[in-house]
Amino acid sequence: MRWILVFGALIGPSICSREKFFGDQVFRINVRNEDKIDKLTRLVNSNNFMLNFWNTPSTFGHPVDVLVPSVSLLPLKSFLKSQGIEYSVMIEDLQSLLDDEDDEMQHNERKERSGDNFNYGAYHSLSAIYREMASMAADFPDFVSRLKIGHSFENRPLYVLKFSTGAGERRPAIWLNAGIHSREWISQATGIWTARKIVSDYKKDTAVTSILEKMDIFLLPVANPDGYVYTQTKNRFWRKTRSRNPGSNCIGADPNRNWNASFAGEGSSDNPCSEVYHGPHANSEVEVKSVVNFIQEHGNFKCFIDLHSYSQLLMYPYGYTVSKAPDAEELDEVARRAAKALASLSGTQYQVGPICTTVYPASGSSTDWAYDNGIKYAFAFELRDTGRYGFLLPANQIISTAEETWLGLKVIMEHVRNHLY
Ligand SMILES: *[C@@H]1O[C@H](CO)[C@@H](O)[C@H](O)[C@H]1NC(C)=O
Ligand SMILES: [Zn+2]
Repeated sequence: MRWILVFGALIGPSICSREKFFGDQVFRINVRNEDKIDKLTRLVNSNNFMLNFWNTPSTFGHPVDVLVPSVSLLPLKSFLKSQGIEYSVMIEDLQSLLDDEDDEMQHNERKERSGDNFNYGAYHSLSAIYREMASMAADFPDFVSRLKIGHSFENRPLYVLKFSTGAGERRPAIWLNAGIHSREWISQATGIWTARKIVSDYKKDTAVTSILEKMDIFLLPVANPDGYVYTQTKNRFWRKTRSRNPGSNCIGADPNRNWNASFAGEGSSDNPCSEVYHGPHANSEVEVKSVVNFIQEHGNFKCFIDLHSYSQLLMYPYGYTVSKAPDAEELDEVARRAAKALASLSGTQYQVGPICTTVYPASGSSTDWAYDNGIKYAFAFELRDTGRYGFLLPANQIISTAEETWLGLKVIMEHVRNHLY
């Protein structure tokens, strides 16, 4: 009995019941010509070999990363060979990376439970992130507040931090969004780090101070809390929401295909089992609807930035069409300066461009919705890395990722402040 208790205390009940990936690997598939992209796209849609694709095949030369269960290793290899499709093994031992991640998280949680401060260089549970948000609001009551803007499908609160140094409900505002895809953990971690950076730099850093003199910042660090909890309790690679789909056993919709911007168009799926299922109608996901309602009721947002991972990209509208956005030139110029500032810290290279022609067509994305609803400065980041670890970016890269991202965010926010409209 004592052993069970000790074991339970060390490992925690959640991780024990999480899906294991013994013997599974992640392949990187290199596709260049249209014919092979078509073959790969059919593979994505077929669900043969029980694959979990980490991104979508595209015509822009990006490789496709896919989680291959151990039972499918040999059959997939011979299939790819028969089709003349090249691949390499990107992650040889997936479970050992997961074990490392778990061990570090548990170790950190124990330290924080015994009195250590919130460690920004670690991944956290939803409740730890929510507690840290409350503590920032309590420590800086004159300019930080924690707002509940709604709740998730499973009834978890959606908390936003509001940074405001001026009177008035509707100052020009910036929306920072993180964690809409739950498995992209560096996004939520960068989000909460950024909140702490804003409170600690206010009145010390001239850029932050001058941004907050004119504008409010709203930061949603966990835009998909149900998915985030699910990645920590059941399956580390869950991407979507956790809503139910009548008539299907598959759960959830892709919350970044659910916005009312060319909803259900190219780059989304009407199959509830797809990773890019757009949902039954625009704003069907309560997590998306809550943000839409908040932003519309506020009515004075000038900037919307969505943080994803991975691939090191900084993108702007459109995702749903190859047509150029009316402000494409200005957005491109700002994004290039932001990427340059980001790279200045430790050389991390980002590619810059419109979503549709940089990664792949994507309808119903947050960035396009923001742009089409009058928020001119709309951007999406794909944070580190380019695939060495993919979604499993080690915790020892959280702070350097967040720090470099911050340099890019500041360039964008300063540009917005200088070009209020
Ligand atoms: C989507 O936007 C269109 C206008 O572009 C509007 O007519 C429609 O009602 C919106 N749908 C939802 C679900 O908000
Ligand atoms: Zn994403």
